[in-house]
Amino acid sequence: MYILGISCFYHDSAAALIKDGEIIAAAQEERFTRKKHDSDFPANAVAYCLQAAGITAKDLAYVTFYDKPLVKFERIVETYLATTPRGISSFMMAIPLWLKEKLWMPSLIRDKVGPDIPILYTDHHESHAASAFYPSPFQDAAFLTMDGVGEWATTSYGVGRGNTLAMTGELKFPHSLGLLYSAFTYFTGFKVNSAEYKVMGLAPYGEPKYVQAIYDHLIDLKEDGSFKMNMDFFDYCAGLRMTNGKFAEIFGGPAREQESKLTQREMDLARSLQDVTEEIMLRMARHVHKETGQKYLVLAGGVALNCVGNGRLLREGPFEDIWIQPAAGDAGGALGAALYTWYAYLNNERKVKGDGSDSQKGSYLGPVYSDDEIERFLEMNEIMYRKVPAAELASTVADILAQENVVGWFEGRMEFGPRALGARSIIGDARSPKMQSIMNLKIKYRESFRPFAPSVLEENVSEYFQIDRPSPYMLLVAPVTESRKIMMTKEQEQLFGIEKLNVPRSDIPAVTHIDYSARIQTVNRETNPLYYDLIKAFYQKTGCPVIINTSFNVRGEPIVCRPEEAYKCFMRTEMDYLVMGNYILAKKDQTQLESDVDWRKEFQLD
Ligand SMILES: [Fe+2]
Repeated sequence: MYILGISCFYHDSAAALIKDGEIIAAAQEERFTRKKHDSDFPANAVAYCLQAAGITAKDLAYVTFYDKPLVKFERIVETYLATTPRGISSFMMAIPLWLKEKLWMPSLIRDKVGPDIPILYTDHHESHAASAFYPSPFQDAAFLTMDGVGEWATTSYGVGRGNTLAMTGELKFPHSLGLLYSAFTYFTGFKVNSAEYKVMGLAPYGEPKYVQAIYDHLIDLKEDGSFKMNMDFFDYCAGLRMTNGKFAEIFGGPAREQESKLTQREMDLARSLQDVTEEIMLRMARHVHKETGQKYLVLAGGVALNCVGNGRLLREGPFEDIWIQPAAGDAGGALGAALYTWYAYLNNERKVKGDGSDSQKGSYLGPVYSDDEIERFLEMNEIMYRKVPAAELASTVADILAQENVVGWFEGRMEFGPRALGARSIIGDARSPKMQSIMNLKIKYRESFRPFAPSVLEENVSEYFQIDRPSPYMLLVAPVTESRKIMMTKEQEQLFGIEKLNVPRSDIPAVTHIDYSARIQTVNRETNPLYYDLIKAFYQKTGCPVIINTSFNVRGEPIVCRPEEAYKCFMRTEMDYLVMGNYILAKKDQTQLESDVDWRKEFQLD
């Protein structure tokens, strides 16, 4: 039985397909339309899912939508009534879309997917909880979902047992950890619903000097992690901005203009917000642990992408282990909606494998291109390449990496979720002290205050990082082991921003943040054999089982999906090699793209 899950019309629309409970395919619409965070109906993602399974819409038993549009509509109307007449502008902005599309969801789905398909709806937080629990390696676990907002809930928790999910408690709009984080994202001059991870990356540069101000004015936090926000300082209920003038008064002046220079104030704000966020996450986890008595915790919702907070939950929280849905944001809601239908609604049995492995398949759930398809693309466009026998690919690319080349790595099925995990990645040598700035300057065309993330062989993770278990989805941050740290001198400690990042802080400097932390991806052979073999070959040649992994995309654009996007990205940056399937393309062999005279200005990587 095939069930299709759909999420859309908020941000990051997506589709996911399951067959008898097994996850078959899932993808975000942005990867096909090339519109970052595309929130339109995911027509392309739906088409991809059906095609990946070799079925048509007629074969679908159910289509499940990831939230309840009518309940959400009620929240918007009630919020408007509570803030009237001030809320009229945001209300008028929201209403046309609601009348046009959201309230007509059933007819829209039948129109876009196919007639006569039974349509179901899950609650927004039920979808998040289902996406966290059902693919997890745990037979029973507590769940905690935290996001901006769905219908009313902004946080929910409860217990998953076998195939059931029982909701125990929730926090409701407008009190929302996700929206608090987004408010500071806006105020520090970053893009809301998109650049929250940059605020997290900025935090280690700052001091927590605004923590008390946040507790004094913005949020009344209880021992159990529940909280109320003081809406006198926020504008997201009635206005079109996240924060208001009173908010700015507490933090010494107006919000930073986007793209203007970052100052110590933004760094201190980021650090203070991050500290408060971690405190809330920890208190909530302790409360959920006490209430549910469960050993394990599963997480989803946008806040679960806060991998620094997740790392602390694992180290300091009460649970023995945690599992986080890699597509933790609303895209993952599509997967949760489908799984909820199979397990909770249709009451099908759920049995975990019991060996600690999950059923997310490494999140490699997107489109794949065969060697034939790649070769056809290369031949049609008269692109220079050499084909390497499959058995030699890992070793050949490991040599290229060890010579400090930057490599575009396009292999296998595209990742589902915001992180590149070795299918659509740009990779490099983590040992190289120059790599941090080489990759920033040659590939990103700007100095980033964030370091890159490491991919490390699963069996070697504890030799490099203070973590004793796999982190396959790059959702846990942990410190570099003490013996590998290179302590900064007094003078180096005084350096500001990027200058500080360029001081080598370990023997894998390109992936070590200024607070000696790293956002870890562990790689095992079962889930991604080729990527594993590559890092293993690199290890054998260099003695280092760690490489740099950053997402394969141009700034402001989604991660590449097809060979043509990978090639364009390769040509528009100073990437040295592109590896697609068994084909290796060297930059020095390529003729410049005609349209690329001004590419440095036009195309920047994120
Ligand atoms: Fe959500």
